[in-house]
Amino acid sequence: MVFPVLSAAAKRLVGKVAIITGGASGIGECTAKLFTQHGAKVVIADIQDDLGQSICKELGPSATFVQCDVTKEEDVKNVVDYTMAQYGKLDIMYNNAGIGGFPTPSIIETTLSEFEEVMKVNLIGSFLGTKHAARVMIPTKQGSIITTSSTSSIIGGGAIYSYTSSKHGVVGLMKNAAVELGNYGIRVNCVAPYLTSTPMARSFLNIKDEDFSNFYSNIKGERCKVEDIANAALFLASDDAKYVSGHNLVVDGGFTIMNPGFCIYEYTK
Ligand SMILES: NC(=O)c1ccc[n+]([C@@H]2O[C@H](COP(=O)([O-])OP(=O)(O)OC[C@H]3O[C@@H](n4cnc5c(N)ncnc54)[C@H](O)[C@@H]3O)[C@@H](O)[C@H]2O)c1
Repeated sequence: MVFPVLSAAAKRLVGKVAIITGGASGIGECTAKLFTQHGAKVVIADIQDDLGQSICKELGPSATFVQCDVTKEEDVKNVVDYTMAQYGKLDIMYNNAGIGGFPTPSIIETTLSEFEEVMKVNLIGSFLGTKHAARVMIPTKQGSIITTSSTSSIIGGGAIYSYTSSKHGVVGLMKNAAVELGNYGIRVNCVAPYLTSTPMARSFLNIKDEDFSNFYSNIKGERCKVEDIANAALFLASDDAKYVSGHNLVVDGGFTIMNPGFCIYEYTK
């Protein structure tokens, strides 16, 4: 993904400091690139050291990598403390790290350990990110906390049990935090992507990049790309969204509003 070079006036995150968990790959990687292009300092927090380091090398001094497993409170605390020590503030916390789990559609075959593993990364990881971001944002009375949910935060049957539960869960987490942290001028939102070709989605579905063209929404001929999610995160992170809080911003080309089982337009052609 290559974003065009921007004029100073077009940059929307000048002077802002962001942490992006899961920033070494997929949606997080694309968002790290977009945020730095818009003038932000970005700390990539991920368990994939080599990938994270190589992205930072590509992005130059605007990006740094911190090894962080979002399921471990000490790691999450550490990346927030590192950011404060390095830059003196945290403006944007993007809880994006996530896993798809194992392709087990049956509840009977879903093991407790599989269920717990997905909940730990997707939900508990977002809780810890929100908690430690709030810790340093509250005294400064500002900040934007974003979590990657999913269209599986709205509908059932689009993913396995643990994943759907975790993504519904992050929306609840976000809503509570938006109510509490709004008292301190902190905005809290989610971005909800539709199926997008990333290492996680490709390995979960065992398909190739080109196969994602089959997952249509109701925008004809368009598939959901990582850039579409990154642009939504950019909006929520920026001052353009200064009155947007408690929102689950769906980026799905209208997929979740449409039931292809019955569509009036098929009968009125
Ligand atoms: N790709 C899709 O179709 C899609 C759709 C809806 C939501 N999402 C969500 O988007 C987010 C990003 O996923 P992606 O599709 O870019 O996948 P990805 O695999 O490309 O990126 C996920 C990143 O999270 C990191 N990660 C995993 N476990 C971690 C942990 N314990 N601690 C820190 N980092 C960890 C991985 O190392 C990886 O870099 C996830 O929350 C995912 O659930 C993806």
